[in-house]
Amino acid sequence: MRILGIESSCDETAAAILEDGRHLLANIVNSQIPVHRRYGGVVPELASRKHIENIGAVVQQALTAAGLQLSDIDAIAVTRGPGLVGSLLVGLSFAKALSYARNIPYVGIDHMAGHLCSTLLGSTTPLFPAIALIVSGGHSNIYHMTSMTDYALLGRSRDDAAGEAFDKAAKILGLEYPGGPVVSRLATSGDPKAISFPRAWLEEDSYDFSFSGIKTALANYLHQLPGKPDDSHLANICASFQEAIVEVLAGKTIQAAIDHGITTIVAAGGVAANPRLRQLLTEKAGRHGLSLCVPATEFCTDNAAMIAMAGAIRLAEEGTLALDTDVYSRFCPQSG
Ligand code: KG4
Ligand code: ZN
Repeated sequence: MRILGIESSCDETAAAILEDGRHLLANIVNSQIPVHRRYGGVVPELASRKHIENIGAVVQQALTAAGLQLSDIDAIAVTRGPGLVGSLLVGLSFAKALSYARNIPYVGIDHMAGHLCSTLLGSTTPLFPAIALIVSGGHSNIYHMTSMTDYALLGRSRDDAAGEAFDKAAKILGLEYPGGPVVSRLATSGDPKAISFPRAWLEEDSYDFSFSGIKTALANYLHQLPGKPDDSHLANICASFQEAIVEVLAGKTIQAAIDHGITTIVAAGGVAANPRLRQLLTEKAGRHGLSLCVPATEFCTDNAAMIAMAGAIRLAEEGTLALDTDVYSRFCPQSG
């Protein structure tokens, strides 16, 4: 069984081919970062246009990399949402056209389910039940998972998602988009205790996150400086800002596991590529005797391998979708 995964929910046009739910034969990610960088964030209209330009070539590259033809593909898995509607429509329409023209079944995948399934692409796979932290540019969610298809939301971002906070901080600091990789790189030479940015723990029993306050704290901090921070000061700012975010992410995730008596922690999504978050989760999990499952960095940020993996799981349960299936920007209409 060979599944072609297609992902186009934001600013990556991606295609991957997964065989028998195990062997990744191709994983192509065409990033639009250079297109959006000058605007300091993703411009939805430009993203859709770039997906249209790229998607045919990206799918062809995946087939070539795997040494396969379209006739070798047994099913297609494509992201239906959440994400930018114009971008999602490009991937979904492409998948439908392939499905219709070549009579290949296709299945729609929730992007968050894709991130959860990215943990199956590594060498260690999670044992259930598990507590999952999915942190990206659009979400900071904590889930209680009993299987790859059965999970309940325990907490979410009430305002800015963790990745969004990194991106906005970078913009305030005059750094490049996307902010996460730049801030985390600069943070490596900084002191995380240099500046005391607020930690938004919210109510004692809440697994929700709020990162808009720390962004304002950063803006206020910069405002009272006499001039632009020099390189070592900038490194301290990045390290302190990063620490305030990852401490809350790791703290609430571990707390959720302890509260629910669960011993497996899963972390995925673009922000899970952050080395300090990975380190802190490893330390805290070790201290509490929990096992941690985090995919390789390349599978944390958006990719189609995770969509193909989710497809391998979903297809067995559901079969193909109708051709009038729509995308969704926020919540899957079927699951509410
Ligand atoms: O999962 P993803 O590729 O796309 C979404 O679904 O949003 O996540 C992208 C987000 C961006 O906000 C980016 O700044 C953040 O992940 N990110 C990071 C790092 N690498 C990517 N945040 C912190 N540290 C990183 N090393
Ligand atoms: Zn994502």
